[in-house]
Amino acid sequence: YDSLAAFPPGFLWGASTSAYQVEGAWDEDGKGPSVIDARESYPAGTSDYTVASDHYHRVADDVALFAELGLTAYRFSVAWSRIVPDGDGEVNPAGIAFYHRLIDELRAAGIEPVLTMYHFDLPQALQEKGGWSERSTVDAFVRYAGILFEEFGDKVTYWLTINEQNMMVMHGAALGILPPGTADPAREVYQQNHHMLVAQARAMALAHEVLPAAKIGPAPNISSVYPASPAPEDVVAATTFSAIRNWLYLDVAVHGRYSTTAWAYLLERGWAPRVDHGDMEVLAAGHPDFIAFNYYTTHTVAAPLGDGTDAGDTGDQHIVLGEEGVYRTAPNPYLTKNEFGWEVDPVGFRTTFREIYDRYHLPLMVTENGLGAFDVLEEDGTVHDPYRIEYLSQHVEQMQLALTDGVEVIGFCPWSAIDLVSTHQGVRKRYGFVYVDRDETDLRDLRRVRKDSFGWYKALIETNGEQA
Ligand code: BG6
Repeated sequence: YDSLAAFPPGFLWGASTSAYQVEGAWDEDGKGPSVIDARESYPAGTSDYTVASDHYHRVADDVALFAELGLTAYRFSVAWSRIVPDGDGEVNPAGIAFYHRLIDELRAAGIEPVLTMYHFDLPQALQEKGGWSERSTVDAFVRYAGILFEEFGDKVTYWLTINEQNMMVMHGAALGILPPGTADPAREVYQQNHHMLVAQARAMALAHEVLPAAKIGPAPNISSVYPASPAPEDVVAATTFSAIRNWLYLDVAVHGRYSTTAWAYLLERGWAPRVDHGDMEVLAAGHPDFIAFNYYTTHTVAAPLGDGTDAGDTGDQHIVLGEEGVYRTAPNPYLTKNEFGWEVDPVGFRTTFREIYDRYHLPLMVTENGLGAFDVLEEDGTVHDPYRIEYLSQHVEQMQLALTDGVEVIGFCPWSAIDLVSTHQGVRKRYGFVYVDRDETDLRDLRRVRKDSFGWYKALIETNGEQA
């Protein structure tokens, strides 16, 4: 292009967090335990989530920092078990009050709240009753959604149903939806997936019924999948993987039907979920207004070797498919890796935008993108994170190319607004624009420190995305 399309006025320059990773106060003011709180062990040397970044007690100060950063949106999640401690019973007024406080602070600062209803932290009481294997959890979710709409509907326009449902399914044991020792885990997890899809469709339909101005959408992790070579067998593997990783979720969310390739894959293995009478009508009646997606990296796959080491839907250690596999993960020789082994692929961000938009033609919001790193707080109180600035600026550049391609992008909410506890690598794997002074075991003073990336992002927002 000779010139790039400008970011539209009102583009949402945001940042993201999730409740259990940032709030702390895990059992305060009536909050019930979630599956995260009920975990019995954590990877060696990593923190639990009991205090996290102590955001629950510092919400006003944190929002002041977000305002100083210039955010025009903030994507956060509501902890279901803060609102309904046992998932489907009494409502907890103190939990409701906390999110009113947060949303009011955001609104007062001119920051658009983007509310995720469920980000990995299913109430433990529901899990003990069978979790997403049970239809009753669908009802509990829809009831919870209704409570949120009623309480916050006049203050929140943008709603996200379920964060990274596809990652929960693909890493079902690690992310806590699949109890250890589940017989036939792949079959079970796809039944749970179906229930989540039904719950999501009902929540979207309910939002449209009670909040006509609301905009609601799913928030999976979506990324382009490359074949490891032009060999047609590798291309087949790549399209199969993309169907079971990406389109299975979005086809149902948008069109109310399963991707043909993904369904064939499930059927062949005996993993197709039981679809109750009326489910397909429910799925068809739920329409998103936009698609939110999280993007960190792309995937490269090759045809399976059939030697018992291939992957299937996951690569997850808990559901390795052996000879049932339909692909092998392959390194991409054109990409570098971050300190945690994740390939960095800004150009893949553009192709991901194109693929989603061409398929669904709905506005897109990026709800996560960012770089986890071992940041260092220097003695003079500074944190230099040029690697994060580089990562984000390359991704913003590709997002602008996607915009120039004609993709309707409405917002960018990188992960994360402030340091928080990562999903599996503790506090030391940091993503924030704001450093939180604690380590895995020593809470120190939990002081907030602006990183260099804070100044970079602030300047970017001030110029509505024009990079220096
Ligand atoms: C996404 C999740 O999968 O990636 C976040 O929605 C998570 O909760 C983020 O923190 C980064 O992953 P990780 O494992 O580095 O924390």
